[in-house]
Amino acid sequence: MSATIIDGKAFAARIRQQVADHVARMKADHGLTPGLAVVLVGEDPASQVYVRSKGKQTVECGMASFEHKLEADTSEADLLALIDRLNADPAVHGILVQLPLPGHLNSDLVINRIDPAKDVDGFHISNVGLLGTGQKAMVPCTPLGSLMMLRDHHGSLSGMNAVVVGRSNIVGKPMAQLLLGDSCTVTIAHSRTRDLPAVCRAADILVAAVGRPEMIQGDWVKPGATVIDVGINRVERDGKSRLVGDVDFDSAAAVAGAITPVPGGVGPMTIACLLANTLTAACRTHG
Ligand code: GUN
Repeated sequence: MSATIIDGKAFAARIRQQVADHVARMKADHGLTPGLAVVLVGEDPASQVYVRSKGKQTVECGMASFEHKLEADTSEADLLALIDRLNADPAVHGILVQLPLPGHLNSDLVINRIDPAKDVDGFHISNVGLLGTGQKAMVPCTPLGSLMMLRDHHGSLSGMNAVVVGRSNIVGKPMAQLLLGDSCTVTIAHSRTRDLPAVCRAADILVAAVGRPEMIQGDWVKPGATVIDVGINRVERDGKSRLVGDVDFDSAAAVAGAITPVPGGVGPMTIACLLANTLTAACRTHG
C-alpha cells in the first residue's frame, strides 16, 4: 500500500472539540444552548444507529438533543405538524428528518416544510439554490465533511479534475457544487455513464457515492489520485458482518496518493459537520 490514509475519525474529533468550546462560550456569555431536533419515522435499523449516534454526539458537545421517534405509519399531516412545532420552538436551532422516509410520505414536501434557517442538512430547496448560486447556504454534511478533508490534504483544489460517482441530492449533486466552488473541473458520473472506469481514471479527485459495496477497483484509480469513499455498506464476509465502502480499499490504496478508509473516513466527518451546522444555525438566530 502506498496511499496516505486520510484519518476522518481524528479530524472529526478536532471539529467536535472546536464546536464544544464554542458552545461552552455561548452558554457562558449569552446563556444560549444550541439545540438539535432529530426526527425518525419508522424502525429502519441503519437509521436507528445513525440517529442514536447523532443524539449522543450532540449531547457530548454540550448542545441539547431532542429526539422524535414516530411510528412507521405516521401520517404526513402529523409529521408536518411536528415540523411546524419545531420551526416555532426557540430552543430548537437545527432540525433533521432522517431519510429515507417510509414510502407513503413525500420527502420533498416534508423537507421543504423545515424553516431553511434550521435546515442543518442543507436539503431545503432554498439552501440547494443558495449553494448552486454560490451564496451563503446550509451545506449538506457529508459533502461538506468530504470537502474539508480534501482542502486539508491539498490546500488549494483549483484546476483539479474531480469525478463524483453518484448523482444523489444528498451527496453527489452538492459534492459537485462544492468542488466547482473550489474551482475544480467537475464530472458527475452515474450508472448510465459510458466506460465508467475510464472516466474515473481521469480523476485527480475521485469521490465514490454510489452505495454499491467495493464497486470502484484499483485499476479505475489514476496513480496518485485522492479517493474519498462516501459508501457505508454492510456486507457478510467469512460469516461476519462488516462495513465496506464503495471503493475496493486494498486495490485502490495500492494506486492512490491518498484515500479515506471505511469506517473512520467520511462517516465521522458527516456527524461532526452536522454539529457544526447546528452551531452555525444557533449563532445566526442570535446575531
Ligand atoms: N440519510 C442518509 N444520510 C442522511 C443525511 O445526511 N441526512 C438525513 N437527514 N438523512 C440521511
